[in-house]
Amino acid sequence: MRLDKYLCACTGCTRSQSKLYLKKGLVKVNGEPEKRPEIKVDPGKDQVSLEGRVLSYREHEYLMFHKPAGCVTAVSDREHKTVMDYIQRKDKRGIFPVGRLDLDTEGLLFLTDDGELAHRLLAPGRHVEKTYFAMLAHPASQEDVDAFRTGIEIGEKRPTLPAGLSLLETPGHVLVTVVEGKFHQIKRMFQARGNQVVYLKRTAMAGISLDPDLDRGQWRELTEEEVERLRSLC
Ligand code: URA
Repeated sequence: MRLDKYLCACTGCTRSQSKLYLKKGLVKVNGEPEKRPEIKVDPGKDQVSLEGRVLSYREHEYLMFHKPAGCVTAVSDREHKTVMDYIQRKDKRGIFPVGRLDLDTEGLLFLTDDGELAHRLLAPGRHVEKTYFAMLAHPASQEDVDAFRTGIEIGEKRPTLPAGLSLLETPGHVLVTVVEGKFHQIKRMFQARGNQVVYLKRTAMAGISLDPDLDRGQWRELTEEEVERLRSLC
């Protein structure tokens, strides 16, 4: 791969920025200063550093996003802001949200351009865990906990798969863990129990928790360990 392209792939910079880095002598290949944008590097073998920092090459992008309420989980929309409107980076072509959260749901959403991994994470048979914090109109009960564990009729062909419901100290505050992703699933599960979700936030997916340092609307790249975790699950 050309060195200037490699710099873009690793840092998210533009091609002209990468040329500027090279011109300024900020780039080393295998410890040697390099200024030629056109030379070829092997991502698997060559070590490239920018201002002394060794770069790591990723074929795909993996982002963690703290979705705020009021934006749709889509790449484009005529009416509402989309999650993509929050991803301020030069090259976001090909990135899309992994699954969806409702317009009014907040919390953890992965974005990637790795269609294969996304597909596997969402495949019904994989039973990838998703955890939500919910505030309810009425306190939940031990009977609700039992019903969630058994499975609930929400108007689908089959009852929901066993789900975890934990009652938090504040009445009406709960944590729910499900292993499927049916449309409006959490809201429909509580509705079936005669209750109503008034606030919903996804706090974890596939064993990865929403980074507490991310405010609503902020994102960061997944760490190598997090990407590995997603890969190992699928
Ligand atoms: N369940 C819901 O009801 N809404 C979401 O956004 C996610 C899960």
